Amino acid sequence: MLNFIYHVPTKIYFGKGQIKSLGAELEKHAKKALIVTGQGSVKKHGIFDDVVKEFSAAGVPFAELTGVKPNPRLKSVYNGIDICKKEKADFILAVGGGSVIDTAKAIAAGVKYKGDVWDFFTKDIVCEDALPLGTVLTLAATGSEMDTYAVITNEQSQRKLAFGSKAVRPVFSILDPEYTYTVTKYNTAAGIADIMTHIFEEYFSEPYSAAVPDRMSEALLKVCVHYGPVACENPRDYEARANILWTSSLALNDMLDAGKRGDWASHAIEHELSAIYDISHGVGLAIIVPNWMRFVLNNDTARKLADYGKNVWNIDGKNEMEIANKAIDKTISFFKSLGLPSRLKEIDIGNEHFKKMAESAIECQGEVGSFKSLSASDIVEIFKMSL
Ligand code: NZQ
Ligand code: ZN
Repeated sequence: MLNFIYHVPTKIYFGKGQIKSLGAELEKHAKKALIVTGQGSVKKHGIFDDVVKEFSAAGVPFAELTGVKPNPRLKSVYNGIDICKKEKADFILAVGGGSVIDTAKAIAAGVKYKGDVWDFFTKDIVCEDALPLGTVLTLAATGSEMDTYAVITNEQSQRKLAFGSKAVRPVFSILDPEYTYTVTKYNTAAGIADIMTHIFEEYFSEPYSAAVPDRMSEALLKVCVHYGPVACENPRDYEARANILWTSSLALNDMLDAGKRGDWASHAIEHELSAIYDISHGVGLAIIVPNWMRFVLNNDTARKLADYGKNVWNIDGKNEMEIANKAIDKTISFFKSLGLPSRLKEIDIGNEHFKKMAESAIECQGEVGSFKSLSASDIVEIFKMSL
């Protein structure tokens, strides 16, 4: 295993009714807060009312930023920074999915920074300080509730980029599985594809001797395989929602790549798709990931893909190559069974921007991926395989 420091200070309140802990957390962290929400789901389904009750009980006033879109835009971040400054908010509460949380993180960073917050995404500048933030999570997918990343789209430049900083890791997150009952089947399925891909990105990487994170990864993938279909078919199944929700946090909270390198090529490729076509991140991943698997499969990588086949899908075969190929087929059919598309054409994406997206994906480092390093022409090939 590689060396690592593990320090994840986000306090998790998990389970039914945990919103009751919000008031005490607000008393600790906030004199005045900014609440960030999306396009209405949390208001429609009563989650916002629960939050407001806690604010009233704690006597903490708040301002609001509403209307954050999926694939959240830089414009919302600028608005949020202005509101925070004007209202003198010293704490941010994100109530929603990854898009709302990522917007809250970028606002938290931007308020404390003299320059343009977009610098953190585009320049070699590390965010050292941010307002504290908490989350009330309503969709199991990104892991943003416990991680250090924010992903924001700059509509003008059509770039969707991430930045990471310990300063924006939430101080607490409230995870009530019942708050995810109203997530549509499509968004639930997309979330499961995202969770599984976070695990893949960490699992399909060196060193192979990092058995602790790899065996944990296989266990969490099995949870997704078992409970994913249940959550899609029975949205109010508490155990299915609970298991998927906790897996979303564990999949991206520094645990599964502790001692490993991580690959992250599929994410770099998908972010280009959602930057240009505004598709759901998890939907893009469900299409790209199996084709990435097929593209990187060779005599060196077959062993790891075969481990995945054997330990997650119980697949047998004559040799590692055969098991690996069957595991990829199984991944495709699993995503399809959740109702997700498996081809770009199904979501009206053609080959018109393949070259531009591939070049953009490798712009920062000249290549992406560690399991197999990918050039721009490799990425174009993966896009073609995904058509
Ligand atoms: O806007 P509202 O009305 O809230 O509706 C949302 C949105 O339409 C809806 N929704 C959320 N909770 C709901 C609900 N509908 C009914 N009931 C509820 N309880 O779901 C839709 C999608 O929401 P969104 O927040 O966009 O989804 P997700 O959590 O998948 O976040 C996706 C974004 O996160 C980024 C993605 O690229 C994408 O921009 N990611 C962030 C990461 C991170 N910060 O670490 C890592 C990921 O790999 C990913 O890149
Ligand atoms: Zn993701």
